[in-house]
Amino acid sequence: MILRPATTSDEEDIWAIFRAVIATGDTYVFDPAMSRAEALAYWFRPENHVHVAEHDGQIVGTYLLKPNQPALGAHVANAAFMVAASARGLGVGRRMGEHCLAEARRLGFRAMQFNFVVSTNEKAVRLWQQLGFEIVGRLPGAFRHAQRGFVDAYVMFQSLEK
Ligand SMILES: CC(C)(COP(=O)(O)OP(=O)(O)OC[C@H]1O[C@@H](n2cnc3c(N)ncnc32)[C@H](O)[C@@H]1OP(=O)(O)O)[C@@H](O)C(=O)NCCC(=O)NCCS
Repeated sequence: MILRPATTSDEEDIWAIFRAVIATGDTYVFDPAMSRAEALAYWFRPENHVHVAEHDGQIVGTYLLKPNQPALGAHVANAAFMVAASARGLGVGRRMGEHCLAEARRLGFRAMQFNFVVSTNEKAVRLWQQLGFEIVGRLPGAFRHAQRGFVDAYVMFQSLEK
């Protein structure tokens, strides 16, 4: 598997992954009916560093890395990850997480913060904890889960300084 910066020729594959992830309504706040144009505009905002994971010529995952806040908060990074359903549980998420943290350090970010990790997304919460993130806040009922109704979301954080 290789990780490389995304190009416009990856848009169709990224949209296929994005659409399938938001369709289930259990991990991201995006409207499951979000259009391709809206999704790609969000994923490829100018301030985003977008990478794809490619295995045997197939795009199996994508992540974005960006400043979490403008200006005086821009030293803290934020990121989002999506793995194709067919490729989950194979280590793609972990590889992308490690790569993203290394990229964030390389770009000079001092910390990384996830603003909205759905508490019932146990796989993601465990992975982020294994990669060094701590739960620093709980937002009660902040996510309207498609199956479970109102569930909590976590703010997760880690310093990138030695
Ligand atoms: C969350 C996500 C990015 C993880 O990527 P992945 O490629 O499936 O995960 P990996 O195969 O790298 O597994 C990493 C860790 O996740 C956990 N994990 C994997 N499968 C799991 C399962 N079925 N149950 C519980 N934990 C599991 C383990 O901690 C695993 O570590 P291990 O390999 O040491 O056991 C991916 O599942 C995904 O895109 N989900 C939908 C979108 C999403 O939730 N994005 C993150 C939002 S915060």
